[in-house]
Amino acid sequence: MFVHYKELWKQRIADAINALLAENGLPETAAASSVVAEIPPQSGMGDLGFPMFAYAKLLRKAPPQIAQAALEKLAAFSGGATAFPGAAKVMGPYVNVFLDRAETVRELLKESDPEEKGGFGKPDTLKGARIMLEFSSPNTNKPLHLGHLRNDILGESMSRILAACGADVRKVCIINDRGVHICKSMLAYQTYGEGKTPESERVKSDHFVGKWYVQFNQMSKEDPGAEEKAQDMLRKWEAGDEEVTALWKKMNEWAVTGMKETYKRTGVSFDAYYFESKTYLLGKDEIARGLEKGVFYKADDGAVMIDLSAEGLGEKALLRKDGTSIYITQDIGTAIFRHEDWAFDRLIYVVGSEQQRHFKTLFSILDKLGYEWAKNLCHLSYGMVNLPEGKMKSREGTVVDADDLLDSLKEMALQEIKEKEREETVGNPDEIAEKVALGALHYYLLQVSAAKDMLFNPKESLSFNGNTGPYLQYMGARISSMLRKAALKDGAAARAAARPEMLSGDAEWEVVKTLFDYNSAIAAAAEKMDSSLLAAYLYSLSKAFSRFYHDCPILNADNPDLATARLALSEAALFVLKDALNLVGIPFLDVM
Ligand code: ARG
Repeated sequence: MFVHYKELWKQRIADAINALLAENGLPETAAASSVVAEIPPQSGMGDLGFPMFAYAKLLRKAPPQIAQAALEKLAAFSGGATAFPGAAKVMGPYVNVFLDRAETVRELLKESDPEEKGGFGKPDTLKGARIMLEFSSPNTNKPLHLGHLRNDILGESMSRILAACGADVRKVCIINDRGVHICKSMLAYQTYGEGKTPESERVKSDHFVGKWYVQFNQMSKEDPGAEEKAQDMLRKWEAGDEEVTALWKKMNEWAVTGMKETYKRTGVSFDAYYFESKTYLLGKDEIARGLEKGVFYKADDGAVMIDLSAEGLGEKALLRKDGTSIYITQDIGTAIFRHEDWAFDRLIYVVGSEQQRHFKTLFSILDKLGYEWAKNLCHLSYGMVNLPEGKMKSREGTVVDADDLLDSLKEMALQEIKEKEREETVGNPDEIAEKVALGALHYYLLQVSAAKDMLFNPKESLSFNGNTGPYLQYMGARISSMLRKAALKDGAAARAAARPEMLSGDAEWEVVKTLFDYNSAIAAAAEKMDSSLLAAYLYSLSKAFSRFYHDCPILNADNPDLATARLALSEAALFVLKDALNLVGIPFLDVM
């Protein structure tokens, strides 16, 4: 089991506090979880700092005195052999700990085994939890855009992070493939399409469909009856009209096939797809039941409503007066269907912040319908993402298309490889450029916390120095190339032979401590449902390694033992880097 020295010391401090409480005839309330471990602001102040303020009231003593008393207790315990030895000192109101560096490094090298599955171990904070994540969830009238790219990587990375914590994760996507907007592209194609196909026009099939949606906007300017015709088509679709159904099938097939190509390209995948066309009727049934139960009511005009004013959500229609369903109708049905399909402990919807009210309403309705799992539904909401040049506008057809953006990022990366004359070194410039593009995109999108609106700056994202994906990839490539040069045949043997006391310098120590933090970084990202914490972790690891690499000669170290020790540390760092990159969807490159 991989144990963080921080946890162990937290426990020791808790034991010391408990002993003090007992001495004063007080109940032992200071469980390890109430002890806070801080990182001292300066390196000369040790590796961990434990503030004593919280116990002042109980013990009726000033924090510095408590720190002194706790220290005495610690000294009294330290008879038996324990892991992570270190010296504790009183520093004002704190107990600070100076770890024995060599012993801590020894523990790291012993516990980390890159060859063995799990390597540094993984937090098991979510062991056995069944978590369903819904993300991407496109409409079939137009291709994926920049907003989807943010959504996709938020969903994909969060799935990987939760799974790394031991959760049983199911990634799902709902394809919103029905409704009047879908009929609009269909209508435009039916009117002007002349039997053209994606093949005949040599366009990616979802882009082909998207073009007709844009065309509809044009059409509706010229033909005031166009909207009505689209509504008419929807009614025919709902009635199962053969011709409309055939057209719908064909165009949806094009849309979905094209989107799946983009998912494949970005490394996004799903365990199940749900289709609104298949679940929206379930929603209608549920509305009928809710009406019987008295959860809903019929308005004068015949629409089915719910009153959520007590929840601050006002009154909400669930079925139109003509009986057709609304966006929320199908979500009610889909959620119930999903829970029957795969009984989740938690369902997370990754959807834009403009739908916050929608999800509050949905969760509240499911709760009122008596589904006890409704309290385990959550909305992972994220902000808008724009290009610096201007806003994304979908209706006008000036949307930032996902594929086009990926293409231009790739082109820019390729240009850079050519300019640096690295085509031969990298072997396959095309493949490398694609991976650099993805690394740049995903890191840039994830490093900002989800809730914030953001600008995606393509040029900045691709920069090799700075807080970027390519910088992290470059770090991986540099370590890999060094390890290749060293031709370390037996990593495990090298780690066993490495003499930990040789890795006690400040630069090495920083890398060691950062490696210890990996597990807690994953656990924190999962707990807060915030992948940006892992992105930040990656950056701190790269910075620490970069300093080590710069300050300490590795292959040219003064003696072979030192070289071996530093190589062993580099290998451990590479293992964590690779593993963490995968969790945030950044392709690892061993050359670039
Ligand atoms: N397709 C919807 C849209 O583009 C998003 C679907 C979100 N998921 C959901 N279960 N409602 O706005």
